[in-house]
Amino acid sequence: MKNRKIRGAYTQYKDNQVTPEDSYWNRRDFIKNLGLSGLAAGSMSSSALMATIDRPVNSGFNTAEPLSTENVVTHYNNFYEFSTSKRKPAEMAVNFKPGNDWKVEISGEIEKPGNYTLEDILSWTRVEERIYRLRCVEAWSMVVPWQGFQLSQLINLVKPTSKAKFVAFETLESRSVFPGQKRGVLGFHVLPWPYREGLRMDEAMNPLAFLATGVYGKPLPGQNGAPLRLVVPWKYGFKSIKSIVKIRFVEQQPYNTWRKSGPREYGFYANVNPKVDHPRWSQATERRITDDSFFGTKRIDTKMFNGYGEQVASLYSGMDLARDF
Ligand code: MTE
Repeated sequence: MKNRKIRGAYTQYKDNQVTPEDSYWNRRDFIKNLGLSGLAAGSMSSSALMATIDRPVNSGFNTAEPLSTENVVTHYNNFYEFSTSKRKPAEMAVNFKPGNDWKVEISGEIEKPGNYTLEDILSWTRVEERIYRLRCVEAWSMVVPWQGFQLSQLINLVKPTSKAKFVAFETLESRSVFPGQKRGVLGFHVLPWPYREGLRMDEAMNPLAFLATGVYGKPLPGQNGAPLRLVVPWKYGFKSIKSIVKIRFVEQQPYNTWRKSGPREYGFYANVNPKVDHPRWSQATERRITDDSFFGTKRIDTKMFNGYGEQVASLYSGMDLARDF
């Protein structure tokens, strides 16, 4: 595996009291896990290497809330291409280990379309850490330390034209990789495949929008959407599409899978909103899952835009978020 070039500019974050998993912040482990140990002998100085493992300085990219454990993050998943069970994706994804040769087709209203490998993409972007809340539309939530890069970096590189108003994403479609894409006993698909999602261009360019390639300092496991998944923390988790193989820049609002399968229940914007209930349950509170009990230690109030209003509320000024939900 080719080493990734990381040009981070973090300063050290002193407070480590919120971390439930002490070993996570062990610098040696982190470097080993990312496969970066060989780098010290190369062009990067060791201080630059160290810089990559400190926590985000920008408070918008971090939180003082306790992290969900690595076990919870990687063993309580929604990945319907494997299974609709929360616990099965981790078991079923053991052999799904895509590498840096994974291809992403980037096309549409851009000046630089192409089939790019993950290795290409990682060589152009700056890998960093983001600690984000993840709020599922099912009213549970976690706090997750992701590694990856800001989506806007990739968008700027492919140079969208003035016609690009939205970005559409697509997950791999492969019945051999994803048994859940086969028809069920009654001949129905669980969801229309491939899984698709989309963002408005200004949402995609917001600094919070992130493409994750790792979690807890390790390459993203299959069940979390290896090797490349979107993370949009102010929106319900279903917007954070996994195992992306296509990114297309388009003029019209793209199709998104959950809206297609239940238009009364799921919208395109899907901004976390405690005032707009799901037709079948309240969205006012959420079950915060932090530890291995998997059930969540407490119910907490859900915040508008999942607590990221300062960064994103202006994107929606003038919109009726109860109607455009
Ligand atoms: N992406 C694909 N391709 N398939 C899915 O079933 N589930 C979504 C989202 N991305 C899903 C997906 C939902 S509903 C959630 S809550 C998050 O992934 C869960 O991410 P996690 O398993 O990493 O916590």
